[in-house]
Amino acid sequence: MTEVGAPREERIRRALDHLRNDTTDEFEHLTWFEPVEFTDPEIAKRERDRVFGRVPTIVAHGSEIPRAGDFFTLQLPRNNVIVVRQRDGSVKTLVNQCRHRGAMVEKEEKGRCRLFSCPYHRWSYDTDGTLRTITRDNTFGDADRSERNLVQLPTEERHGFIWVVDDANATIDVADWLGRDMDDILSSQDLGTKVTTRVQVFEEPVNWKLMQDAFLDGYHIQYAHPNTAAKHIHTNVMAFEDFGHHCRFMNLRKTIDRWIEEDPGDRSLAEHTTETYFIGPNSTLLRQPDHYQLLTFRPHPSDPQQCRMEIRLVCPTLEDSGMTEERWNRIWDKNVEILVAVLHNEDFPILRDSQRAMTSANAGNMLLGRNEVANQVFRREIQTLVSEN
Ligand code: FES
Ligand SMILES: [Fe+2]
Repeated sequence: MTEVGAPREERIRRALDHLRNDTTDEFEHLTWFEPVEFTDPEIAKRERDRVFGRVPTIVAHGSEIPRAGDFFTLQLPRNNVIVVRQRDGSVKTLVNQCRHRGAMVEKEEKGRCRLFSCPYHRWSYDTDGTLRTITRDNTFGDADRSERNLVQLPTEERHGFIWVVDDANATIDVADWLGRDMDDILSSQDLGTKVTTRVQVFEEPVNWKLMQDAFLDGYHIQYAHPNTAAKHIHTNVMAFEDFGHHCRFMNLRKTIDRWIEEDPGDRSLAEHTTETYFIGPNSTLLRQPDHYQLLTFRPHPSDPQQCRMEIRLVCPTLEDSGMTEERWNRIWDKNVEILVAVLHNEDFPILRDSQRAMTSANAGNMLLGRNEVANQVFRREIQTLVSEN
């Protein structure tokens, strides 16, 4: 497959030049923004409706529900849902609410079942959401059964991930939302052959955009992570490409330093980089040498000052890895442990305090620099979606 955008080695050399010159890829302008964007319930509602209710977002990797009847439940910004694998291999997302008197049909986080059975009066539904049984229906009366199926949300599986638009009246077209560039990039990563392992969930008292922003930021590394990430990754040096709703950026590892003075010639410098894809509106996919880390951020269904962050490692299967099971487990345990420690000890405290700072009555406006390129894309795209009708 031909490369999308500038060839990788060319982008690495552009980043290396930035490192030599103490520069980085930049936007043309600074951007101002207001603290109310992180605290206002009206703005939060518009984001839930116009962002999450309109465009596809990743809810899981397909490998998390491999067999027919496998399901998980999830609170999306607008709907509490059950995501379930069908007998024909497709995936459906059902609103987790009984069509009798509205009880929650499934309360387990994860499982496998043949039908969903409501705990209140035991109506039951097929895994595709079709109403199967009305208990004691000789006394219940004539309900139109075809009107009583569980409500479905538009769902598609693509590039190994399950995508959902969080509105029953919407349609879904993941390729269209990704656009040619991001669709080609994701398809070239072969993510469908990989598996999710080590899912971690964090419910944090932070607006989802503040959280997402921290994982698009190449400027804070040296200051917020001096003894961890900054030992390995250069700060504020990025080769960046804007793909509209999405973007891609490359950071340099410090192992590249010998090539600051020396000419690397034609050799590949790929091992000295980390590449990140921002998959709008709410995911960061980090490409590591032997696996991917997917970070997703979702607003709370009502409180602008809370969000849910999920981390997944997306890895080669045990068979494809050629590792022993013990080594395979050890590597991913270690990997997620390091990542989670950095988040807990270094990012989350700053972000929780940022959220509190935003609630000051006289919080002033704030600035995104020209160097904060991926953050600029994120903000621009959310603003566009929220202001479009
Ligand atoms: S609310 Fe579900 S069966 Fe009555
Ligand atoms: Fe960080």
